[in-house]
Amino acid sequence: MQVFKTVQALQIHLNDLRKNGQQIGFAPTMGALHSGHLSLIAASKADNACTVCSIFVNPTQFDNADDLEKYPRTTERDLELLSEAGCEVVFIPNAKEIYPENIVIRNDFDFGELDKVMEGAFREGHFAGMAQVVNRLLEIVEPNRLYMGQKDFQQLTIVRSMLKQTNSKTELVMCPIVREADGLAKSSRNVRLTPENRQKAIVLSETLRKVKERLTESSIQDLEQFALVHLNLPNFRPEYFKVVDGISLQEIESIDDADFVVACTAVWAGEIRLIDNMILKNN
Ligand code: PAJ
Repeated sequence: MQVFKTVQALQIHLNDLRKNGQQIGFAPTMGALHSGHLSLIAASKADNACTVCSIFVNPTQFDNADDLEKYPRTTERDLELLSEAGCEVVFIPNAKEIYPENIVIRNDFDFGELDKVMEGAFREGHFAGMAQVVNRLLEIVEPNRLYMGQKDFQQLTIVRSMLKQTNSKTELVMCPIVREADGLAKSSRNVRLTPENRQKAIVLSETLRKVKERLTESSIQDLEQFALVHLNLPNFRPEYFKVVDGISLQEIESIDDADFVVACTAVWAGEIRLIDNMILKNN
């Protein structure tokens, strides 16, 4: 496994691979890696001769200074995990490499309603910062394929729109959510849950599952209400639970209104904000 800290050294290496006809898969991350991230590496390895993983805690996408400061940083362990997973290339830039003073980084995308709803309504500037860094990383890596997790469903939908707006040739591959044994979606923030809230956090995946089970019996509005009541445990505060068209991210009134339907939720578990989602229909 080769580790690069500068854009220049990384690009020299990747250009050599490209000259030899190798396909490049790319999984951007913010580190504190777990098996969810490693599933992206495995998916990329199945499709590409070279897999690049980036680790960069991007300050421009944090809407909360405390969250940025407390974001777990475990680089040594991350490198071990990536090496064991057979990742060929790791890119660990510092902020100056990503945001050099002499380069204007495009951030004038128009996501329509995609970045206004759900996470967009609660995390001011988050998606603009995310799109900015993903676009910059894609310009650096120029991968054939980009691997992102369904865990951050809205993020992935916005990146799909960004790829369209930049006429990118990169193919976006969505990887399923990896969960703990009890159903909690793996997340770097889970380690910050108190033991008590960690136990209760299974309520997110349980509620999503129950909503899916009741899909044919109840109206969407009733299901959303049912979910919000369910999620409202002591010390927990649901921010939203929405059943949306998985392409436009707009709320639907009936399950028949869209072919691809996803339920998405965000819940504060004490001081930690958790998100989860489930595909309810895809045909
Ligand atoms: P991060 O939260 O580190 O996640 C990196 C990638 O791993 C994302 O595509 C995310 O959806 C995926 N991922 C996280 N948990 C997962 C799980 N339980 N199952 C499957 N995939 C999972 O998302 C970001 O970083 C950043 O916003 C980034 C795209 C790197 C831009 O800074």
